[in-house]
Amino acid sequence: MGETGIRLDLTGQTAIVTGASSGIGAGIARLFGRAGANVVINYRSSEDGARETLRAIEDAGGTGRIVQADVSQEGDVKRLFEEACDAFGTVHVLIANAGLQRDAPAHEMSLADWKTVLDVNLTGQFLCAREAIRLFRARGPVPEVCPALGKIVCISSVHQFIPWSGRVNYAASKGGLLLMMQSLAQEYAGEKIRINAIAPGAIKTAINRSSWDDPAEREKLLDLIPYGRIGESEDVARAALWLASDASDYVTGETLVVDGGMALYPGFREGG
Ligand code: BGC
Repeated sequence: MGETGIRLDLTGQTAIVTGASSGIGAGIARLFGRAGANVVINYRSSEDGARETLRAIEDAGGTGRIVQADVSQEGDVKRLFEEACDAFGTVHVLIANAGLQRDAPAHEMSLADWKTVLDVNLTGQFLCAREAIRLFRARGPVPEVCPALGKIVCISSVHQFIPWSGRVNYAASKGGLLLMMQSLAQEYAGEKIRINAIAPGAIKTAINRSSWDDPAEREKLLDLIPYGRIGESEDVARAALWLASDASDYVTGETLVVDGGMALYPGFREGG
């Protein structure tokens, strides 16, 4: 740590970013590469996207490695961490980001769509966090690199507390993440593992293309965002860098909301 005690970079640290072939995950992976981390770029199906993320990191002078794995599969998650360790020796940071939506009115939602969303968004983050915690504990502290034993950032959503009709599977997965993250943080703070979350609002990515592509939909979306613009992956990446870095060393069990004010009940702006 520097003289000011602030270290907003990740030099000498290795970070796994799940779902890093597009969207928020790709934005985080790129910024972490620029911040000096060795970045493990995980993807499930878009190899091209993962290559693009790696290229951007390398073009900026950073280092990365691509690992294909489905975070909802226990064996894949184990292999993801093994390959990360083979490439870079160990892991200091996990960004549990991979997630998806399968929207439908609840009365029409298939069990398969309920399960897929829970399996990836909630169980997937649990499997990755469990593997990271196992690895941090087995390795032990490396105080010359980082004051914490390890750091985990769960990418959640404003829908961990804003109910969302037509997306009961997604909202349930994100609501579950809140208490998963807090319970893990409580369980492992004594071992100096820091576990936090980010709750992004509407960030311009493929997951919500239909709400920013079409001008009328875009206007409706902007009505929900007091700050007056749709978020960019970089907005979330900067928050993730702070939570993953040692500048936030005394922070654990917290959710950082990055939403341009979406969670501030914008419907009440004109009085109740
Ligand atoms: C969802 C997006 C949505 C945003 C705000 C995110 O978690 O994935 O589709 O635009 O929340 O509602």
